[in-house]
Amino acid sequence: MDASFRLQHPLAGASFGGRLALEGATTAHEVITAAEATPTALPEALAACHGVMVIPGMGAMAQDPTLLVRLSRLFGPEVENYRTTHMAANMVHPEVPEIFVVSNIPPVFRAPPPKPTPPLTADGKFPVQFPHRRGWHTDQSYRRPPPDISLFLAVQPVPQGQGQTLFADGIAAYEALPAATKSRIETLQGLHIASAAGRKYDAVKSGAPQRELAPHERPVRQPLVRTHPVTGQKALYLCEYGQMDWLEGPIEGLEPGPDGEGGRLLTELAAHYTDPRFVYVHEWTQGDLVVWDNRCTLHAATWFDAEHLSRVMWRTTVWGNPGPTYAGEVKSWLPDMEA
Ligand SMILES: [Fe+2]
Repeated sequence: MDASFRLQHPLAGASFGGRLALEGATTAHEVITAAEATPTALPEALAACHGVMVIPGMGAMAQDPTLLVRLSRLFGPEVENYRTTHMAANMVHPEVPEIFVVSNIPPVFRAPPPKPTPPLTADGKFPVQFPHRRGWHTDQSYRRPPPDISLFLAVQPVPQGQGQTLFADGIAAYEALPAATKSRIETLQGLHIASAAGRKYDAVKSGAPQRELAPHERPVRQPLVRTHPVTGQKALYLCEYGQMDWLEGPIEGLEPGPDGEGGRLLTELAAHYTDPRFVYVHEWTQGDLVVWDNRCTLHAATWFDAEHLSRVMWRTTVWGNPGPTYAGEVKSWLPDMEA
């Protein structure tokens, strides 16, 4: 990495992740120009800290959204244009279609998740571990190939203490598994599906009627253990209740359903993955940009007071380097590319 970049890692209160600063650069534009001059620096920094990197002070991107797209391009061959991938128009930035807007205010109206039940752990702590904490996922894992990297900018965060984003380290979680579990899951495939398909844990468990799925909505197989195409490190790759197929899966070849063998294994792995020792809680400051690698991390949103507060976050997604498992695959999830 260029000497002028300073990476502090791990992140405060966590065992992984890093915080990047550029000596002498005071504006987002200067940071991006320097990063473009040494284009491997930021991807290498991200890989060095197990796939979660905080870059503070990027608030100027809110005035010039193309800066976020420029920075995103350093992390892979393709920055998703959400207008071409059938995202709802109200969630896409009106001028820059590579930006997906996550917000509770118009025109997006996306509500935050509820507080966990109960709101604190038995010893009075902020809950992070599944299943007490729900909503852990890796972005768009219901697509095959899945995306590599997400960038998330705090345009208008809510006060600290709410609206955090939680991250979990899939490399450390994999390494900490007992050898017998590693060998059991080595070749298993999870069945991932968008929550809108109606096959979430709670829906299937309650016996809610299932609808016919269009071909592009069908569950996709993803390995439970992914080898990172850049670092060669192995990481757990799974979601939990909301983004797995709990009807046919969640694990291919194992007894399906919420009470089946596959469900028991998935639940056990998701709880292990989100053990507090593998988790970082990010409290947002305006202008924070957090970059994460979806190939080796999980993340989850948390509650905030959406009745009284407005939150605006921008996300980009970078594609194109999922690894040899996906070699030659086209985007099977696009309706107009159905086989
Ligand atoms: Fe996400």
